[in-house]
Amino acid sequence: MRIGLSYDLKETVATERAIGDDAFEEYDSPETVELIAASLEAEGHTVTMLGGGREFLSKILQEKVDFVFNIAEGRGIYRSREAQVPSILEMLDIPYSGSDPQCLAICLDKPLTKKLVASEGVSTPKWRVIANRQELRQIDSCDFPFPAIVKPAYEGSSKGIHLTSVVEDTQQAMEVVESLLEQYQQPAMVEEIILGDEVTVGIVGNSPPLVLGIMRILPKQRNGYFFYTLEVKRNYLDLVDYECPAGLEEKALQQIQISSLKAFKALGCRDFARLDFRISPQGVPYFLEMNPLPGLGTHSDLVIMAQKTGWSHRQLISAVLKAALERYPKCVCV
Ligand SMILES: Nc1ncnc2c1ncn2[C@@H]1O[C@H](COP(=O)(O)OP(=O)(O)OP(=O)(O)O)[C@@H](O)[C@H]1O
Ligand SMILES: [Mg+2]
Repeated sequence: MRIGLSYDLKETVATERAIGDDAFEEYDSPETVELIAASLEAEGHTVTMLGGGREFLSKILQEKVDFVFNIAEGRGIYRSREAQVPSILEMLDIPYSGSDPQCLAICLDKPLTKKLVASEGVSTPKWRVIANRQELRQIDSCDFPFPAIVKPAYEGSSKGIHLTSVVEDTQQAMEVVESLLEQYQQPAMVEEIILGDEVTVGIVGNSPPLVLGIMRILPKQRNGYFFYTLEVKRNYLDLVDYECPAGLEEKALQQIQISSLKAFKALGCRDFARLDFRISPQGVPYFLEMNPLPGLGTHSDLVIMAQKTGWSHRQLISAVLKAALERYPKCVCV
């Protein structure tokens, strides 16, 4: 099959407007793109590099491809940016891997995602959205459970999430919210902190979707509380141990598995996804967020999890592709 690969490289997007030092954190490296292309070629396909943005627009009209393997994160600071490439592919009626524009747009909006997942009975930490400076004053009047974490509402890759994002009271929350509103030009959310283990869950397939693994993320130095911040993700080799399967109690593992599949279905995810939980000291898993377009580079959590489960990169890419091809031309998996 002739497969087009759509992607956004850090170095290409860096020519656009930069906001902060993490402005390009979600974008991919040439090594990741080469790795995915090599895995697709090893399965017998020919690969055409389509890139992203304007380059993608002209190449998708010129090149003859049967299918697009999409890892493009999209351009700008829009909350629907991950939906850009899949929307164009739907307009041209070209089949592609991964979730559809609606799912991708919802999942980059963390508060909206949490509402949908909570409506399925999945526990998620309490939260408040602060959309602008006027709403800042309202935090004062509510009895929000502190400590809390303050994060941008429409980001991933731990953009805007540092140790200083953890706040103990209203005053500190207001300061962090104000700086996020300014820096990220989007609402901020204040979320109850769940102090306990952190796990990330990989899902592959559609009928039915299968939990590939539940991986616990442990700090190498076990002093104080651990958060998987931007700084930790950038230096994961020195700071983090990955444990898969996660050494948790059977009851917690079962609960995580059930909640993960409920979230995948509720949000309309397809083919693959990765989602994060924190587990309370009482053993209750709390859903944090869904990534329907998780990283596929060697340093990415899903790839690390796959390798710990005995899957090569090629097997992971092949499973995603197979899931996409099997469901096509269905738009939604039921
Ligand atoms: N409510 C919370 N309680 C405890 N820790 C939290 C909470 N929210 C976020 N964190 C910490 O911050 C990290 C990043 O948060 P989150 O997963 O929401 O961000 P992200 O940028 O979407 O991540 P990803 O890189 O997976 O896309 C989490 O992995 C966790 O360590
Ligand atoms: Mg996360």
